Amino acid sequence: MFLERLAQDAARIQDQFDLVLGMLDDLDVTRAMAYATEGGKRLRGFLVLESARLHGVDEVRAVWPATAIEALHAYSLVHDDLPCMDDDDLRRGRPTVHVKWDEGTAVLAGDALQSLAFELCARPEVGNAEIRAELALTLAKASGAQGMVLGQALDIAAETAETPLTLEQITQLQAGKTGALIDWSACAGARLAQSDPQPLRQFAHALGLAFQIADDILDVEGDAEKAGKRLQKDADAGKATFVSLLGLDAARSRATELVDQACAALDGYGSTAETLKQAARFVIARDS
Ligand code: IPE
Ligand code: IPE
Ligand code: MG
Ligand code: MG
Ligand code: MG
Repeated sequence: MFLERLAQDAARIQDQFDLVLGMLDDLDVTRAMAYATEGGKRLRGFLVLESARLHGVDEVRAVWPATAIEALHAYSLVHDDLPCMDDDDLRRGRPTVHVKWDEGTAVLAGDALQSLAFELCARPEVGNAEIRAELALTLAKASGAQGMVLGQALDIAAETAETPLTLEQITQLQAGKTGALIDWSACAGARLAQSDPQPLRQFAHALGLAFQIADDILDVEGDAEKAGKRLQKDADAGKATFVSLLGLDAARSRATELVDQACAALDGYGSTAETLKQAARFVIARDS
């Protein structure tokens, strides 16, 4: 059920990217933008579409913020892979954008994908002005210096820190780096319906942490072929992760506990939230 839904939603988002990016001039930067959005799991976009379904919001509206968050996420990956950050040459099984083109094109494609995300949230098709402003405002907070960028900055600072981070500090780092965009995605459905996002926020908070623990575990013991990116890089780079602090077994049990918490947060929705609960279980069982 969940995997089928994820595949359908990924295809729907791809159609939307084709539409939106197809209108741009054919240049290296626009080709790089399209390239960077291809091939991901599209879990964040799925969370937007599924939380919208939960609130009875039509997909015709929800597909815009779903595409927006995948554009923003793609930007974060293009920049994350740059030589000045994680210096990775492989992403989603293909050369990274700065390897396929050059660093300038990668920086600009990332910048433009970020701008595109806000444009898509503000499109009239999304809903009334209040809804569009709320989506854009919350996306700005989730992606900037209180959210994803903060997490990335802490991640980079930790590489050269004198003492290892505490569990609390790692949790704060991860809540920014990965948690904030996942949180925004899961709350989007409630925001589109102008309903209370609180249960979805609790779900997403636990899910986001579990997601990043799974990413850190994958880095240690995943199969690079399946993951489509270079692995075993965190330890060499001195990254602060749950695995570096807790070890593999404790990290795994923490992730399982978090998934249980995520599912429990949705109990009030009854059986309509089953696909989201399956998504939470998938997040820690995935191999890519
Ligand atoms: C990878 O995210 C980067 C992290 C935030 C850990 P995903 O695992 O969702 O990557 P794609 O989009 O499926 O490639
Ligand atoms: C990337 O985290 C997080 C963002 C891009 C915001 P990682 O550096 O752990 O992601 P991977 O392992 O390269 O996919
Ligand atoms: Mg990184
Ligand atoms: Mg990285
Ligand atoms: Mg990683």
